[in-house]
Amino acid sequence: MATILSFVNLKGGVGKTAISVNFAAFCGSKGLKTLLVDTDPQTNATFSCISVPNWKEHSSKKGTIANLMGMRRHTSAQGTNVTTNEIIIENVFSNVDLLPSHLDLFTIDLDLAGAIARESKLTRALSEVMNNYQIIVCDCPPNLTIPTQNALAMSTHFAVPVSPDFLSALGIGILLNRVKDFCGDLQHDLNHAGIILSRIGRPAQHRDEIAEDLRSTFGDLVLNSEIRERVVVSEAASQNRSVFQMPNRDAKLEFKACSIELLERIGIEI
Ligand SMILES: Nc1ncnc2c1ncn2[C@@H]1O[C@H](COP(=O)(O)OP(=O)(O)OP(=O)(O)O)[C@@H](O)[C@H]1O
Ligand SMILES: [Mg+2]
Repeated sequence: MATILSFVNLKGGVGKTAISVNFAAFCGSKGLKTLLVDTDPQTNATFSCISVPNWKEHSSKKGTIANLMGMRRHTSAQGTNVTTNEIIIENVFSNVDLLPSHLDLFTIDLDLAGAIARESKLTRALSEVMNNYQIIVCDCPPNLTIPTQNALAMSTHFAVPVSPDFLSALGIGILLNRVKDFCGDLQHDLNHAGIILSRIGRPAQHRDEIAEDLRSTFGDLVLNSEIRERVVVSEAASQNRSVFQMPNRDAKLEFKACSIELLERIGIEI
């Protein structure tokens, strides 16, 4: 069975997508057969890997995660009998396949309001491909609605990127409690892989104290490695590349150190 790691936080813009995409790319570069699952209606991980025209063509011809999660048919998400394998886009990076997202997921909580076992739709849809991968990486939206619930219900581990600014740090305790309750209700075993200090250096008041506070509150849960704010991270995404395909040495080193630490914490040897 694949190890499945979801990146979650209730706060937006803290680096969940950047870390998901680059962690997946790192895993692939180490020869791990990797699936990147974009569960966010914003479709940011998808657009960090493939161009908008390619996504448009693929989503209309083959479909996206919205089809797998049983959305009612919107004009742009057609195809009733698509298999998971057909929806997955192969080799967006070396050894990394992508399950793309769709803006249709924005209304999924309404669409699936009365559906039975709606938090395990993704687990069921991916069961046919699970064994093809050593690691599955899920990029989640900044909330705990149905797409995130589906990712967590399927995951063996979760990790929390946090940007050290006042408002980002506030919600971590709430998030951890909610995840615990959710897993308790589902009787699902989910391991905390760690908190990642991300986008360090972004202008923010008291950021050093907040980073210190997080380390003293959450102790070993916080990864040693930190991801700094660097333009090359968004540049890479806009070029559908990982930071490992960009010239900036520092960004590569940081994402490498963070990925190695995460892999150790989830028990995958490279
Ligand atoms: N280390 C970094 N340095 C510079 N820019 C970054 C870094 N990490 C992320 N960004 C940029 O900041 C923005 C937000 O990052 P990202 O999309 O990864 O956050 P997110 O937590 O996934 O946001 P959301 O909750 O909206 O999905 C993006 O434009 C991204 O390219
Ligand atoms: Mg994101």
